[in-house]
Amino acid sequence: MASSLSSSASMAIVTLTIFLAFLLGSSSAQLSTSYYSKSCPKVFTTVKSVVKSAILKENRMGASLLRLHFHDCFVNGCDGSVLLDDTSNFTGEKTAAPNLNSLRGFTVVDKIKSAVEKECRGVVSCADILAIAARDSVVILGGGSWNVKVGRKDARTASPAAANSSIPQPTFSLNALISSFQAQGLSAKDMVALSGGHTIGLARCITFRNRIYNESNIDNSFAKTRQQNCPRRTGTGDKKLAPLDVQTPTAFDNDYYKNLINQKGLLHSDQQLFNGGSTDSQVRRYSNNPSSFSADFGAAMINMGDIKPLTGSNGEIRRKCRKIN
Ligand code: HEM
Ligand SMILES: *[C@@H]1O[C@H](CO)[C@@H](O)[C@H](O)[C@H]1NC(C)=O
Ligand SMILES: *[C@@H]1O[C@H](CO)[C@@H](O)[C@H](O)[C@H]1NC(C)=O
Ligand SMILES: *[C@@H]1O[C@H](CO)[C@@H](O)[C@H](O)[C@H]1NC(C)=O
Repeated sequence: MASSLSSSASMAIVTLTIFLAFLLGSSSAQLSTSYYSKSCPKVFTTVKSVVKSAILKENRMGASLLRLHFHDCFVNGCDGSVLLDDTSNFTGEKTAAPNLNSLRGFTVVDKIKSAVEKECRGVVSCADILAIAARDSVVILGGGSWNVKVGRKDARTASPAAANSSIPQPTFSLNALISSFQAQGLSAKDMVALSGGHTIGLARCITFRNRIYNESNIDNSFAKTRQQNCPRRTGTGDKKLAPLDVQTPTAFDNDYYKNLINQKGLLHSDQQLFNGGSTDSQVRRYSNNPSSFSADFGAAMINMGDIKPLTGSNGEIRRKCRKIN
């Protein structure tokens, strides 16, 4: 009798523990596509129209906005932390090594935020704005769409150290890339699909210099072309830009993967995805099948958007994306 009582009591404790662990571990389950349908029904159209005019003004902006969401999510979750400005008593993520002189689009985010605030004050988070703007950018540049989950809150903190250590680097090997994404709960398959983000946008000479002068798994004439605008000597022309996708740098298509097959990946890390390793077959598939890339990219963006969001009473809805309330 006593033993059956204690066994049903311990059963209850186990069940409760599993339930609590589930609640804690599944804050992403509180995100939904309809989160703002009553509180801010026009949020999606409002964000899209500002993104659209920003891209019309400068077509690179779509790439810059997509990257902002990535660099937000990889640093303690998609919580708008990347948007916080440094102040005299606060160092945020903007000046961390992977972001400094590199991230852009902050004034467009400000514009989106003011348009959304006009529509519904104090309702929509900056973290959600980044997620929506990333999707809109991809669609406006010709990529496939996905349904963006929303309901994230904004962080009251940021972590320059985590920005430095969690964002993958262009010098990484395939294994390091896989580990970096795995540390965020993303699979190797997600990693290869998300890398297709490099079908748009530009990179600085400093990020690909070693590849175009020193590596052998690179197309010779492609390397020569890139060398024209990226001098060999460190410290000279570090900021000179080249397209990540040599074919169509402002179209969101599958040319990134075709380039990899032709050894025309710009970054060392890009070419790692097609270099005789475990991800070659996925690169081949995407290069032959744009719709398979498009579907997997959307699914992977949803997975990335699910990384450790603040929900419920955690975090806040920032009034301005650059500073905490
Ligand atoms: C797989 C690991 C990744 C590495 C090592 C990496 C590295 C880089 C580097 C070095 C640049 C150039 C930055 C500069 O020169 O200022 C860049 C640009 C870019 N990255 Fe990535 N990236 C990765 C994954 C991603 C992902 C997952 C996305 C989005 C889904 C993404 C989207 C972009 C875009 C759109 C640009 C161009 C931005 C612009 O033109 O403003 N990257 N990336
Ligand atoms: C930083 O300084 C500002 C203005 O001087 C002040 O309002 C804020 O409370 C300070 N923040 C911290 C974390 O000390
Ligand atoms: C950032 O990371 C790089 C490479 O891992 C390291 O060399 C550097 O010391 C780090 N910087 C800071 C400020 O943590
Ligand atoms: C090429 O590799 C050598 C040897 O590792 C290195 O000293 C040199 O700086 C590299 N050149 C460039 C342009 O990165």
